[in-house]
Amino acid sequence: MDDKQRVGLEAAKQVKDGMVVGLGTGSTATHFIRELARRIRDEKLSIQCVSSSFACSLLARAEGLTLLSADQAERIDLYVDGADEVSPEKGLIKGRGAAMVGEKLLAEACASFLVIVDEGKLVKRLGAKFPVPVEIMPAAVRLVQPGIIALGGKPVLRLAPGGKDGPVVSDNGNLILDVTFPADPDWSALDSALNCLPGVVGHGLFLRYAKKSTILVGHPGGVRVLP
Ligand code: 5RP
Repeated sequence: MDDKQRVGLEAAKQVKDGMVVGLGTGSTATHFIRELARRIRDEKLSIQCVSSSFACSLLARAEGLTLLSADQAERIDLYVDGADEVSPEKGLIKGRGAAMVGEKLLAEACASFLVIVDEGKLVKRLGAKFPVPVEIMPAAVRLVQPGIIALGGKPVLRLAPGGKDGPVVSDNGNLILDVTFPADPDWSALDSALNCLPGVVGHGLFLRYAKKSTILVGHPGGVRVLP
């Protein structure tokens, strides 16, 4: 069992009968979703789920989970998802899978946010390993870039890997700019400034959820909670 699987399985133990559960996207969240499905089958639990992405919906349906669309959900008790970076202050960078807009909707709405990562995701400072993914309207692809550059960012259009020519297209039909910032910017100011740029649909800085977040870290010896 690897660290991602270990932490995914641990997270599934935290789901209680009757909950509405937000499902994250990515390889760590996949372990959680599969284990949740197993528990629901074996323990005959009544759980409703809300998906953060198309990929996650496909998996959830294949696993036989009961899915509410986001516009049907009246509450989300627990949202479980991975992250690309976690700072000591529990700030996150998300969106390697280009799903951060759907993911942030669930992070904002949930009562509790369980972030599941391995040790490799823990960073001293945000931006240490990953750029900030910014989802933009396709029509804004050129006009939005000067505004991002004025904030100190270096935007690069994310291209699709083999199988599709051209850019990655998000679940919402938008494009992704991966934006590198100089070391130690004022992340909180950047969060707000990016939100205010016309053409930006959303971005992968998750800074406002620390209070309701628990960070579970999988490691070779087990799973620990980030203090
Ligand atoms: C997708 C995400 C993922 O949660 C993040 O990339 C972590 O993925 P993985 O668990 O595969 O390392 O933000 O948009």
